[in-house]
Amino acid sequence: MDNFDFYAPTYFSFGKDSEVKTGSLVKRFGGTKVLIHYGGGSVVRSGLLDRVKASLEKESISYIELGGVKPNPRSGLVYEGISLCRKENIDFVLAVGGGSAIDSAKAIAAGTVYDGDFWDFYEGKPVTEALPIGTVLTIAAAGSEGSPDSVITKEDGMIKRGASGEAYRPKFSVLNPALTQTLPPYQTACGITDIIAHLYERYLTNTKNVETTDRMIEALMLAIINEAPKVIENPNDYDARANIMWAGMMAHNNSCGVGRTQDWTSHKIEHELSALYDCAHGAGLAVTMPAVFRYTMGHDVTRFVKVASRVWGCRMDFENPELTAKAGIEALSRFLVSIGMPENFSALGAKEEDIEKLAHTCCWGSENADGTIKGFTVLTQKDVEEIYRLML
Ligand code: NZQ
Ligand code: ZN
Repeated sequence: MDNFDFYAPTYFSFGKDSEVKTGSLVKRFGGTKVLIHYGGGSVVRSGLLDRVKASLEKESISYIELGGVKPNPRSGLVYEGISLCRKENIDFVLAVGGGSAIDSAKAIAAGTVYDGDFWDFYEGKPVTEALPIGTVLTIAAAGSEGSPDSVITKEDGMIKRGASGEAYRPKFSVLNPALTQTLPPYQTACGITDIIAHLYERYLTNTKNVETTDRMIEALMLAIINEAPKVIENPNDYDARANIMWAGMMAHNNSCGVGRTQDWTSHKIEHELSALYDCAHGAGLAVTMPAVFRYTMGHDVTRFVKVASRVWGCRMDFENPELTAKAGIEALSRFLVSIGMPENFSALGAKEEDIEKLAHTCCWGSENADGTIKGFTVLTQKDVEEIYRLML
């Protein structure tokens, strides 16, 4: 196991009606004037926004609102949020919604206290300072409620990039599983797929002897595989929603990723798809993951055999371990289709003629790029093109 430091101080309030505590949590973490940041309106329609506002009013905390965050959040609204926060002397940013609203809130929080262009953070500058952030989560998916990360799309060129830093960890996150019951099945499935990707991309490590985190990841995957069909069948299954919501947080706050190298190849290759075609991140991952795994499996067949037998229950073929490894990837693929996820490029609206451009942006598109993607394996632009072709 590799050396590591791990500090994840987010305060979680989990359970039915937990959003009524939002005001007191903002107060606890020093907020006096809040920007409430949200998406395209689901929180207005569900009445959640009104309940959050009432809980702030109860604590005499003033607030302003900025809605309109799109899935795959854009830089334009971040700039608008930064100006607003400065003009109104905001000292706390509260995201009400999913990963997109949270990531946009994080970018605003960092940009407000930074002299330069907030996009610098999305070109590799670590985030060391930001206004305090709180979240009221409405979808189990991105894990941004507990992560030190944010992903934004720059409209100029439609480039989607991530930024990281401890200042991005929310001070608190309110997780009420009942709030996720209004999600359409497709969005629920996209979220489940994202959670599975966050687990796989930690599982695919080059570090030896990491049995504790291997077992944590396997346990979370098994729980998700068990609970997912229940929520697709019955969106109001509170307990299944609750299990998935907590698994989504655990999958991405890095408690099961410490002390080991991680992959993130599928995420990088997918981000180009959601940037260019505006598909849902989870749907993009459902198509990307099996292709990446088929392509990179030969790097360490044992890793894929382990997940195939321990998680997917595949029979071990001692003569031909590759067959067991492949069976595990096929089982993942079947599972994703069974919950309603797309299987190929065209189902995402993606086009074969864009492959070279997609692979080029993926390998060369950011300031510090050196033409490769490094994770479980090192891939060149040609490799990435081959992977996109496997998705056709
Ligand atoms: O915008 P509204 O109207 O709220 O509708 C949203 C949106 O259309 C809807 N929705 C959310 N909760 C709902 C609901 N509809 C009905 N009832 C509810 N309870 O669902 C749609 C998707 O929302 P979004 O916030 O985009 O979903 P998600 O949480 O999957 O976030 C995706 C973004 O997170 C990034 C992705 O790249 C993508 O941009 N990621 C962020 C990460 C991080 N910060 O750590 C890591 C992830 O790997 C991921 O890359
Ligand atoms: Zn993700």
